[in-house]
Amino acid sequence: MGKLSTLTGDEVTAVLDRQTAVMERLASGDPLSTVLDSIVVALEDLIPGSRCSILLLDDRGVLRHGAAPSLPATYSTAIDGLAPGPRAGSCGTAVHLDQPVVASDVSTDPRWVTFRELADEHDIGACWSSPIRSGSRIVGTFAVYDRAAHEPDDRERELVRRFTHLASIAVDHDRSASEREARHQADLARRSAERANHAKSQFVTSLSHELRTPLQSITGFAENLKTLELSPEQRHKALNGIGGAATHILSIVDDVLDLARVEAGAMPIQLERLNAKEVLTVATDLVQPLAAQRSITVECSGPSLDVQADRRRLRQVILNLLSNALRFSPSATTVRVSTQDLAGQRIITVVDEGPGIAADLLDRLFVPFDRLGAEAGREGGAGLGLVLARRLTEAMGGSLDLDSTVGTGTRVTVSLQSGTDQCSSGTDRCSSIESDN
Ligand SMILES: Nc1ncnc2c1ncn2[C@@H]1O[C@H](COP(=O)(O)OP(=O)(O)OP(=O)(O)O)[C@@H](O)[C@H]1O
Ligand SMILES: [Mg+2]
Repeated sequence: MGKLSTLTGDEVTAVLDRQTAVMERLASGDPLSTVLDSIVVALEDLIPGSRCSILLLDDRGVLRHGAAPSLPATYSTAIDGLAPGPRAGSCGTAVHLDQPVVASDVSTDPRWVTFRELADEHDIGACWSSPIRSGSRIVGTFAVYDRAAHEPDDRERELVRRFTHLASIAVDHDRSASEREARHQADLARRSAERANHAKSQFVTSLSHELRTPLQSITGFAENLKTLELSPEQRHKALNGIGGAATHILSIVDDVLDLARVEAGAMPIQLERLNAKEVLTVATDLVQPLAAQRSITVECSGPSLDVQADRRRLRQVILNLLSNALRFSPSATTVRVSTQDLAGQRIITVVDEGPGIAADLLDRLFVPFDRLGAEAGREGGAGLGLVLARRLTEAMGGSLDLDSTVGTGTRVTVSLQSGTDQCSSGTDRCSSIESDN
């Protein structure tokens, strides 16, 4: 315990007031340098005429500037980087010996021999320094400088002891806070890695599951061809079955590769200035035969739309959306594709009159392989189309959103950057619109 008897009652109150103020700073999360400054200033107030400093040991074991608000900057700079040793002034020697060092006259003290000129230039006559500890380790020093030769009395020693202890608490607190923060960050990183790992395992499981069905049907048909006496018609059917299943596998593999590339940011996207209406016309023409088979009308309307996009990838996005609209809509309904220029916002919408999607399923829409329970029939998809369409749109600098009402239909909105915005990526190229439809 401290020798309170060496301090007067008023001084004890003053010490406690200052200690409380420092603790409050610590508790409110002030940076260490501010807290150390306040400790130094508090001690300077209680020992009038003194100038104090705190030096902290760095990872390489040298003393670095911690706090010295009243010492000249030129002195602090000269001392910064001081290596502990038997003749390293008061601070370096205190660390070296692991005990307080009192140099009551630096002009004659052998430990100051290499610092005498510096002391002279900065009006330093005496300096005593005490090690600051964190646990059993020395983490720095607390020094008190006098302008003239001076031997500290009991009161001053007691004050220095108390404030050195306070500095230890501040350094300890800062280290535990940094360690807590480092542990928290490591914990966050571990959890995010676990989540990514889990998502990857789920993806691989779903992928294997998706590939198994068409592979089993290929094996089955091949087995029949090998072992059974089939009529030409049955052979034709079996070969068609193999062809269909192989095409399905290929399309899953293509989508998985595209998704992996776009998620890794490795999808080559060639942004150019183009008329999105042209791409929509090509895509709707492509699906007309399928729409006719299902007695669904596909309409394309709206103005020319000057956007920044990758022509091939935009077509892929629109084809995915049209494929959903056709796959899930009943016959005798209409799928409407349209363009809009809303105050510079370039919008494409694909709207169907299908069954719609229940609100509680909307969250799962962009999860790979999640078909929300939709039947994966002969023409069933793998559940990759929407997530791929969204990622591709984002890779072109746009966004894709879906809203749906059960019993009314589904609307997908693709928003793209205007063609007059500057192309952002170095590998992208801008070219002008070739023609308008
Ligand atoms: N227009 C729509 N109307 C109703 N349900 C839809 C619509 N679009 C998507 N869905 C639902 O969302 C699920 C996911 O769609 P997504 O396009 O990602 O996969 P998919 O069409 O099943 O397969 P893929 O696109 O890989 O061929 C669908 O299985 C379906 O349940
Ligand atoms: Mg789809």
